[in-house]
Amino acid sequence: MKGVILAGGSGTRLHPLTRITNKHLLPLYDRPMVTYAVEALVGAGIDEVMLVTGGTHAGEFFRLLGNGHEHGIDRLFYAYQEQAGGIAEAFRLAERFVAGDKVCVLLADNVFEHSLRPIVENFSRQNEGARIVLSLMDNDEHLRHLGVARMNGDRVEEIIEKPEAPPSRYAVTGAYFYDAQVWEVLPTLKPSGRGELEITDVNNWYVTRGLMEADVVDGFWGDAGESIDAYYQVNDFVRSGGVNK
Ligand code: G1P
Repeated sequence: MKGVILAGGSGTRLHPLTRITNKHLLPLYDRPMVTYAVEALVGAGIDEVMLVTGGTHAGEFFRLLGNGHEHGIDRLFYAYQEQAGGIAEAFRLAERFVAGDKVCVLLADNVFEHSLRPIVENFSRQNEGARIVLSLMDNDEHLRHLGVARMNGDRVEEIIEKPEAPPSRYAVTGAYFYDAQVWEVLPTLKPSGRGELEITDVNNWYVTRGLMEADVVDGFWGDAGESIDAYYQVNDFVRSGGVNK
């Protein structure tokens, strides 16, 4: 399975910090944010990785990660996003790298307390389709800033992006698993209200065809790019408890 780390975007929710650097280079406790995503993939057994980034600080990722070996990556590739156009648009740049394999896409501002390894193993056993990772959240305000799954038992019936009225307490985290059908879906996407190609539209394509499976993570999950408060919550958690365990 290949790994794709998405570390682009303009990080407007963390302005003005992100006027002077890429969001994913900001510190989480004692190291740059993106290194936690690298550690999450490597710890889950994925050691062929493409990092997609953009903007004026892209070169810093080379300085930090180099060829990846020091971080446990066997083969590290880079792609450059000319314009911030959403998660799904950034992911399209990885098509030739993934080359028809199964792929795990990880947003570089997402931090998980527990290893993704069991979920990667579940997807390895899955014959076809996609897989998302849900996290139970008790705070409605958080949920309104995320994708939220409408559930029927343990099946996902729809994912609603940034819902006014969250249909459940299951947030959709930024770890996504796809089979090769995803490359047919991506070119059909239309920009959303925020002018981005949405990963939620990709996921709903699989949901409507009955091809979406989901795992629920236990332990902490945070999106450090959601807001400045979320950024500090994730920082506090990383400092006190450690992650990717
Ligand atoms: C993105 C997804 C959203 C998901 C979140 C997780 O949101 O669109 O569904 O819940 O990542 O981090 P964004 O960070 O683009 O607002």
